[in-house]
Amino acid sequence: MTEIRICGGKRLRGEITVSGAKNAVLPELAALVGMKGTGVIYNCPNITDVSVSMEIIRSLGGKAELEDGTVSYDLSGIDSFTIPTDLGCKMRSAITFCGGLLGRFGEVVFSPPGGCVLGERPIDLHLSGFKALGVEVKEENGLIRVKGRLKGNKIRFRYPSVGATQNIIIAACFAKGQTIVENPSLEPETLDLIGFLNTCGGCIALRGGCIYIEGDRELKAKPYCTMADRIEAGTYLFGAAMAGGGKVSLKGINRQGIGAVWDVLEKTGCKISSGRDYITVKSLERLKPVEKTVVKPYPGFPTDLQPQLTAMLALADGKSIVKETVFEGRNRHIGELLKFGADIEENDGFIIRGVKNFTGAHVTAFDLRGGAALCMAALAAEGESHIRDADYIFRGYEKFEEKIKELGGEITILQHL
Ligand code: UD1
Repeated sequence: MTEIRICGGKRLRGEITVSGAKNAVLPELAALVGMKGTGVIYNCPNITDVSVSMEIIRSLGGKAELEDGTVSYDLSGIDSFTIPTDLGCKMRSAITFCGGLLGRFGEVVFSPPGGCVLGERPIDLHLSGFKALGVEVKEENGLIRVKGRLKGNKIRFRYPSVGATQNIIIAACFAKGQTIVENPSLEPETLDLIGFLNTCGGCIALRGGCIYIEGDRELKAKPYCTMADRIEAGTYLFGAAMAGGGKVSLKGINRQGIGAVWDVLEKTGCKISSGRDYITVKSLERLKPVEKTVVKPYPGFPTDLQPQLTAMLALADGKSIVKETVFEGRNRHIGELLKFGADIEENDGFIIRGVKNFTGAHVTAFDLRGGAALCMAALAAEGESHIRDADYIFRGYEKFEEKIKELGGEITILQHL
């Protein structure tokens, strides 16, 4: 078990570089299994989810190694269409490997990522999308087998699922004919995946809010550089804002793609500026509350920054409301934030009454983004805090300890056997 110890109450000051986007590089690594050749992906973060993705590629017969931010891969040996259950269960996004494997073999076998299998949730949009592409979906002894010849079609998602959109885009590159996805995810990470697939020989266009994919493509590995991580950036921007009076610059990112985060920071009274390749936030001693933020698919406020936003507003001068609509159950950080002295009530949204300060606490991370929010709260809190089950955080934050130290935070990672 990993525990993080933070001695908080200091202003954060300094400059750090934002890593490559976890949520862009994961589907890009997954798409590789449908491709031929050898190549590289630059700006890849060294995080646990990337390690698991590379393990999946290797388990299927390919090669993938990460060194100094570059993944080098060789896809010539891929000879299996079964995603090993132990690896597939480690991260939900393993399901995004299905599109590429279907393209390569016309078949994929995997275990469902928990929950009810072929019912309403949580992967019904992926499976109904595959069925619309003409392939058969069967449940066999707890595994799911998807098999058949992919044929382009028009697909309208009832909800713009990020993973389902990405899976269908990848599969549709190999389908016979054209596919149109209506009501797709338009998250910047989905557009980065499209950029990657087009670089590798795909023909995908965005028109009128729909995604058009021309099929029958043979995708060949080409060098590609993944976009910067807007969620990591937002986490440090909110962290800096919370530890009042700080000034933090983030390199490798700009205003594009973080519009909703920018708007919220401006409402709190922070001064935020951006150039071609940086964002700087200068926070006030006290933050203003933000009347209401509704979490929504892009371009709305991202769910992956909801816990960090909630933690920040808990230190504002007045009442704020945050309403989560993407993952209704994303609330386990609330009980933990109360331990720092936050005043948050759950009632058709989080009703946050800002307090003057947080005091150090012993808390538990229940997920990646919630865990990051607790660390930001601990940095703002007076005294020492301990965050248990901190391994979640390393699934998505590269050099977490190093970056926080760079900003003047006092953090130690403790490993318990
Ligand atoms: C991706 C991100 C995750 C982010 C989320 C929403 C990656 C690797 N992960 O996850 O960090 O929090 O987008 O921005 O990119 N749903 C269904 N049926 C489905 C699929 C999804 O009902 O078949 C529901 C989910 O239960 C959830 C909502 O749709 O309520 C959003 O999920 P989705 O957009 O699919 O998120 P992920 O792709 O899993």
